[in-house]
Amino acid sequence: MSEKPKIFVKPNGSIRVTGEVDFVDSEGNVIKTESAFSLCRCGHSKNKPFCDGAHREAGFEAPGM
Ligand code: FES
Repeated sequence: MSEKPKIFVKPNGSIRVTGEVDFVDSEGNVIKTESAFSLCRCGHSKNKPFCDGAHREAGFEAPGM
C-alpha cells in the first residue's frame, strides 16, 4: 500500500509533495509516477514544473506567508 499523498507549502519556497502521485497529460494518461518531489511556485525554475532552487536567488516572497 502506498503512502497517502501530502502537500507541504514551504514558506517563501516550493510546494513539496510526498506520497505516490501520478503525473498525467492533458488527456489523463499517466506519464510517470513519483513519490517525492517539489513544485515551483515562484516562476523562476528552469526545470518547471519542478523547483530547482532558483527561488532563493530570486528572493521569492510568497504572498501572505
Ligand atoms: S519555488 Fe523553487 S525554483 Fe521556484
